Amino acid sequence: MKKIIITIDGYSSCGKSTLAKQVAKQLNYVFVDSGAMYRAVTYYFIKNNLNWELAEDVTNALGKISLAFEYNYENGTSDILLNGENVENEIREMYVNDKVSEVAVIKEIREFTVAEQQKNSVSKGIVMDGRDIGTVVFPNAELKIFLTADPEERVERRYNQLLHLGKSVDREEIKKNLEKRDYIDTHREVSPLKKADDAITLDNTDLTTTEQLEIVLGWANEKINN
Ligand code: CDP
Repeated sequence: MKKIIITIDGYSSCGKSTLAKQVAKQLNYVFVDSGAMYRAVTYYFIKNNLNWELAEDVTNALGKISLAFEYNYENGTSDILLNGENVENEIREMYVNDKVSEVAVIKEIREFTVAEQQKNSVSKGIVMDGRDIGTVVFPNAELKIFLTADPEERVERRYNQLLHLGKSVDREEIKKNLEKRDYIDTHREVSPLKKADDAITLDNTDLTTTEQLEIVLGWANEKINN
């Protein structure tokens, strides 16, 4: 059967990763969380006291960072490995949330992560979520989705996600962080977040995860069978 590339872009906390994971599981595709790569790079800079605004530190760090994913096909998870260490939990901490969008504006860092993401396209059958996947990473993807949801709903979803991960946060802090990251992500010079011309917008504010999955699987099967 034909294998395709599916891209899911959108603002923070719209449920992109949840949707991407479910679609990948149903189609038996590989799921790649591109945001986890920016988060892992950010974590590396913070842990090693490096400054992403210093060219020397960026070159130094990128020469030492190796990123990989560890897939668990049974439960549909994909954990990011930073130089072989599973940092999936650490990269969701608020101190990483706080800095990741600043790190993600750096051109050399984006070139590094985009090259890593494109390596995944060799064998198609991939669902990748992020900000610039349909516009920059895979401009020729067969199915591009731009996911949106009301801001209050997004705060609520992130609050519940962090609670579930055992992290203590308050809604106001989350709201401020989402607003800040959305602003930086849409206004940066290099590959800003924007809807690709040929992407389909899906507002999932009032959809359950099952409902949104059915819609997207319908679109995917159309592309696969054509
Ligand atoms: O999970 P959430 O939607 O909050 O964010 P994420 O997908 O984990 O991405 C974290 C941050 O990485 C974003 O706010 C962007 O600044 C950056 N990012 C990016 O610039 N390009 C991507 N393809 C993915 C993430």
